[in-house]
Amino acid sequence: MEPIKKVLIAEDGRRFYVRKLSEDYHTQFGFVSRESLAKAKAGDTVKTNTGKEFFIFEPSFIDSYGKIKRAPQIIPRKDIAAIITETGIGKGSLIVDAGTGSGALALFLANIAKKIVTYEIRDDFAKVAAENVATIGLKNVTIKNKSVYDGIAEKNVDIVTLDLPEPWKAIEPAAKALKVGGFIVSYSPTIPQVSDFVAAVARVKGMVHIKTIEIIEREWDVDDRVIRPKTQPIGHSGFLTFVRRIKG
Ligand SMILES: C[S@@+](CC[C@H](N)C(=O)[O-])C[C@H]1O[C@@H](n2cnc3c(N)ncnc32)[C@H](O)[C@@H]1O
Repeated sequence: MEPIKKVLIAEDGRRFYVRKLSEDYHTQFGFVSRESLAKAKAGDTVKTNTGKEFFIFEPSFIDSYGKIKRAPQIIPRKDIAAIITETGIGKGSLIVDAGTGSGALALFLANIAKKIVTYEIRDDFAKVAAENVATIGLKNVTIKNKSVYDGIAEKNVDIVTLDLPEPWKAIEPAAKALKVGGFIVSYSPTIPQVSDFVAAVARVKGMVHIKTIEIIEREWDVDDRVIRPKTQPIGHSGFLTFVRRIKG
């Protein structure tokens, strides 16, 4: 899968994603020639052979992210934001992630960190994640088609993120991989999982439970003077549990 190279946007907001600049790009409104695509710079307009006009720009991470394939349930952005801000992930961070699933979390982390190694037990999901990495064009993601419960080969890791049915089975491998001061962040949809995870953390020397949180996002309608929370119900996603390695 090639990365997305250009985004075409029509006046009504409809978007089209161009992966190959060496070919004409076909839409239901006709095609944009490859010569126009090659010449156009961000902010220019291009026209199809039938005269339909599009604005053109380079894709940002979030444009390409909108086109990823989804296999199992992904972690929503509100929860990814909390993982990043609570742990201080940045351009020097080495992160181990498990399970990869579609790679949604791994992609966001790779966009800001130095390197991500992500473990996925199912080869079909590992393939979907690899396609998603290619769609975005990230070069700092390694996908390992292995069970994380069997061990983590990486050492001196800054953060281990877990989105697994039985995260307590990954605590020992994560504790060995983490540097002192490093974090485990576990994401679980149910409280019994949180309870078992926190109880298991207490049994591992040098690991301390920092906190467990739930992030609730409420979107509002803003339409002239009709300004109020959207009427659709707020869905539950998951709980985030933060654990820190405090000694060797
Ligand atoms: C809910 S999905 C993860 C979604 C991912 N965090 C995202 O944001 O796209 C959970 C994944 O964990 C994988 N998994 C389950 N047990 C595992 C194990 N022992 N080692 C590695 N991956 C595992 C599953 O196959 C599944 O793909």
